[in-house]
Amino acid sequence: MVFAENKNDILKKIKDTNSFEDLEKLRLYYLGKKGVIPEALKGLASLSIDEKKTKGQEINIIKKFVEDILREQKTIIENSDIAKKIKQETIDVTLPPSIKTVGKIHPISQTIFNIIEIFGNLNYSVETGPDIETDFNNFTALNIPEHHPAREMQDTFYLDSDQKNNVLRTHTSPVQVRTMLTNKPPIKIIVPGRTYRSDSDATHAPMFHQVEGLVVNHNATMVDLKSTLVTFLEEFFEVKNLEYRFRPSYFPFTEPSAEMDVAYTKVNNKIKIGEGNNWLEILGCGMVNPIVLENCKIDSKIYQGFAFGMGIERLSMLKYGISDLRSFFDLNYRWLDHYGFSILHNQTRSGL
Ligand code: PHE
Repeated sequence: MVFAENKNDILKKIKDTNSFEDLEKLRLYYLGKKGVIPEALKGLASLSIDEKKTKGQEINIIKKFVEDILREQKTIIENSDIAKKIKQETIDVTLPPSIKTVGKIHPISQTIFNIIEIFGNLNYSVETGPDIETDFNNFTALNIPEHHPAREMQDTFYLDSDQKNNVLRTHTSPVQVRTMLTNKPPIKIIVPGRTYRSDSDATHAPMFHQVEGLVVNHNATMVDLKSTLVTFLEEFFEVKNLEYRFRPSYFPFTEPSAEMDVAYTKVNNKIKIGEGNNWLEILGCGMVNPIVLENCKIDSKIYQGFAFGMGIERLSMLKYGISDLRSFFDLNYRWLDHYGFSILHNQTRSGL
């Protein structure tokens, strides 16, 4: 033997380690550049050809053995590390709640509460609708007939097995239709809720949230729409004199249509909403198209209205400095602990 240790000694040494550092020390000792095995291989140079062959084979068997055991031990340490973490982070749900164990409110829920609070103060009421919608409510009534190119603007999840042409709603706008079909004006609602599109990357998720707004009465105007949205955004982002612009746009259900941008600056890689030289698109809006009013049995010669829709994740990311949309849906407890809101925070906010 070129070195004194036998397989059993080596095995015992490696099996005794329980940290990556100790394992790495052993790896270097055996296999490192100046390790005993490479050194032993170098030592073969002075031997005869026959000896080189037999000794060389012996050393290579040991080398492979060491490599295998090191790999095995690494997995064992990894698994015990995970087990330790799981044990440390276990939450005993049978314990009585304390401030530490009570859990946090998800930033999306917090943002929805916040939106409801602001629009509530402007006398809006909250409406909801189902996630599974009829084709009529999601598209046709909103002036998006079958085969209309506007359908392609939204990557729809069609429910194949279903004979009734139902879809997962692609926006909260179908709740406009539901509300107008069942209520007489004046209507003044917001609709927070889940929406679905077949799209997924850092800025798109297949399930996301929107909030819709709809006002229908005798005299709603574009000016009311504008001041409502500015009031909302100034409250939401806690800024005075928000810099904004409205750009002409197109939605089949509003006429005229616009998109609203808000100004922002980047300070230390963080976005600050309110002023600056950059524009960020924040919502779509417009005057309710008279065709939609008529589709919903509201007389467009007597009534008029405005509507708007915005993405809740977007608002939440901008307000709380969250950079990846997907993190909202990861179910990562540490993330929630960091970005979530304590229940007490909400109690004080709403004065409970
Ligand atoms: N529903 C539109 C969308 O999802 C947003 C919108 C709502 C635009 C209401 C105008 C009026 O993109």
